[in-house]
Amino acid sequence: MGGAYNLKLLAALSALVLLLAASRSFLPGLLEAALRAPVLPRDLLPLLPWPVAQPLLRRLALRGAADLLPSFVGVAREPGDGGARAAEWKGACFYDNRAWMEFHNGTDGGLGGGTLHLETNKAHSWTCIDLYVFATPYRVTWDYYFVGREHTLDFKEWESEAEYEYVKRKGVSIFLMPSGTIGTLRALWDVFPLFTNTQWGENSNLAFLKKHMGATFEERPKPWVSELNVDDIHSGDFLVLSKIRGRWGGFETLEKWVTGAYAGHTAVCLRDSEGKLWVGESGHENEQGEDIIAILPWEEWWDFEVKKDDSNPQIALLPLHPDLRAKFNETAAWEYAKSMDGKPYGYHNMIFSWIDTISDNYPPPLDAHVVASVMTMWNKLQPEYAANMWKEALNKRLGTKGLDLPEIIVESEKRGMTFDKLLTVPEQDKWVYTDGQSASCVAYVLMMYKEAGLFDPIASSIEVTEFTIKDAYSLNFFENNMTRLPVWCNKDDSVKLPFCQIKGRYRMELPGYNTMQPYPHMNERCPSLPPNYNRPRNC
Ligand SMILES: *[C@@H]1O[C@H](CO)[C@@H](O)[C@H](O)[C@H]1NC(C)=O
Ligand SMILES: *[C@@H]1O[C@H](CO)[C@@H](O)[C@H](O)[C@H]1NC(C)=O
Ligand SMILES: *[C@@H]1O[C@H](CO)[C@@H](O)[C@H](O)[C@H]1NC(C)=O
Repeated sequence: MGGAYNLKLLAALSALVLLLAASRSFLPGLLEAALRAPVLPRDLLPLLPWPVAQPLLRRLALRGAADLLPSFVGVAREPGDGGARAAEWKGACFYDNRAWMEFHNGTDGGLGGGTLHLETNKAHSWTCIDLYVFATPYRVTWDYYFVGREHTLDFKEWESEAEYEYVKRKGVSIFLMPSGTIGTLRALWDVFPLFTNTQWGENSNLAFLKKHMGATFEERPKPWVSELNVDDIHSGDFLVLSKIRGRWGGFETLEKWVTGAYAGHTAVCLRDSEGKLWVGESGHENEQGEDIIAILPWEEWWDFEVKKDDSNPQIALLPLHPDLRAKFNETAAWEYAKSMDGKPYGYHNMIFSWIDTISDNYPPPLDAHVVASVMTMWNKLQPEYAANMWKEALNKRLGTKGLDLPEIIVESEKRGMTFDKLLTVPEQDKWVYTDGQSASCVAYVLMMYKEAGLFDPIASSIEVTEFTIKDAYSLNFFENNMTRLPVWCNKDDSVKLPFCQIKGRYRMELPGYNTMQPYPHMNERCPSLPPNYNRPRNC
C-alpha cells in the first residue's frame, strides 16, 4: 500500500481528531432529535457530547474503558459468484443488521462508484440510534440511523483505480461508533473539500487558513518562479514549503492550524565535496508511492516542484547566517544524510508532535478518547502500518513490548496514568522503531543541523522531534542582513521579505522568523492554541 494513501487516510482520521476537539458547540442540534420523546439514558448516549456521555457511562457501568472505542463490525462487499455474503452484525440499537455493496458503471470509461446498502432491523427501543463510520484506505465517511429499514450510502465515484480495486477485493469497512461522536462527524463535512485536488480545494485551504489562523495570502507580482543562481545556495540552507492543493494541501492545512506554522513541509540544501548541490528531504514520494527520506540532485528536486508537484507549493529559501554556515560541519551532515537515505518518513515523530499539541490544548479525556478511536480504525484498515504507527510508540512510552491498544489502555490506567497522559510522554530522538530510524520532514532537517554542530554546545539537551516547523524557522539561525541576500532574491517583489521566496503566487509569511535563540529542553512543554498560538517563555 502506497504511503500516499496512508497519508491521505491519516489526514482524514486526523481531521476527525481535530474536529471532535473543536466541535463541542454542536450540542443543541444534536439533542433536538433525542428530546422528542422520553428516552432511556442509554439510548441517548450516542447523541451526547463525550464529556457528558462519559460520566453517564461510568455511572451506568455499561462498559469498560477499552470498549468505548469504535468497534469494527464487518465489511460490505459485493455479493456474488465469489461467494461473498452480506456482512451481518448486532448493533447497539438495532440488533439485526446487514450490509453489502453494489457497484455502478462509470460514464465515458470512468471508474464508476457504488452504493452501500445497510439494512437495520429489530431496534431494542423506538428512540435509539446507531452511528457508523464507513472507511476505505482512501476515504472516511459516516451516517447514523434512527429507523429500521434499508438505508443506502452513495460513493459517487471511486477516487482511483486503486480504491476501486480495494473495494472490489476487500469491501468497505464499517465501524459502529460509541457515544459523543456525532457532532464531530457532522463538522467533518466542512473539511472534506480541503482534500480535493481542484481550484475549489485550493480555495478551501486558503479560506480555512485565513479564517482560522489569520493568514493573508496576498498575491505577489510575477514571475512566480524565481530565476535563481544555484551558486548562491549553500549547505544548510533551509527550504520551507507550503502546499495548498490536493491531499498534501489538506493535510498541511490541518497541520498548520494545529501547530501554528505558516508552512507545512521542509527540506535542506547540501553541497558535496565536488560542489554539486543536493536536496535532503523526508517525505519524498518514490516511484512505489511510498513516502521516504531521500537525497536528490537540486535540478531534479526543483524541476519536480516547478513542473510536476500538483499541490501548488509556495517555496521559500532561508539562507543560513554566515556564522552558522561557518559552523556547519558538512562531513557530519553528509554522514547523517547517507545513514537516513531510503528510510521511511517519520510518521511516529509527526503524530506525537501533533498529539503533544492537541493534548495541551483540549481538556482530557476528550482528546485521548478520540485519538484512541482513530488508532482503532487505523489498526483495522492499515494493520501493517498500525504496528509502527501507534502500538510501538505507546509501548515505548510504557516501557512494555507488544501490547495492543486495549491492553495499553488497561495497563496505563493500572499504573495510575490516564491514557491522555501517556500520549504526552515526549518522543525521544534516540528511540528506534522496528522499521528503522525515521524522521518527519522537520525532524530530519533539525537532526542534520544537530549532527552538523549548529546546536552546539547544548545539542545534547535538544530533542528535535519536539520541534514543529514553526519552531524551526523561528530559530535565529538565518541570514539577518538583507543586503547579504542573493541579488535575485525577491527581485520583482515590491515587498522585501527577510528570506527568499523562490516559488508561488502568494507571498509567504513566517511570523517569528529568525528570532529565537535555542536553549536546553526547548519546545518540550509548549502549548499552541489557535488562533494566536501564544507561546509561554522557555516552554
Ligand atoms: C455495466 O457494465 C457491464 C460490462 O461492461 C455490463 O455487462 C452491464 O450490463 C453494465 N451494467 C449497467 C447497469 O449498465
Ligand atoms: C566534522 O564531523 C566529522 C565527522 O563527524 C568529524 O570527524 C570532524 O572532526 C568534524 N569537524 C569539525 C571541525 O568539528
Ligand atoms: C550588512 O552587510 C553589509 C554587506 O556585507 C555590510 O556592509 C553591513 O555593515 C551589514 N549590516 C549590518 C547591520 O550588519
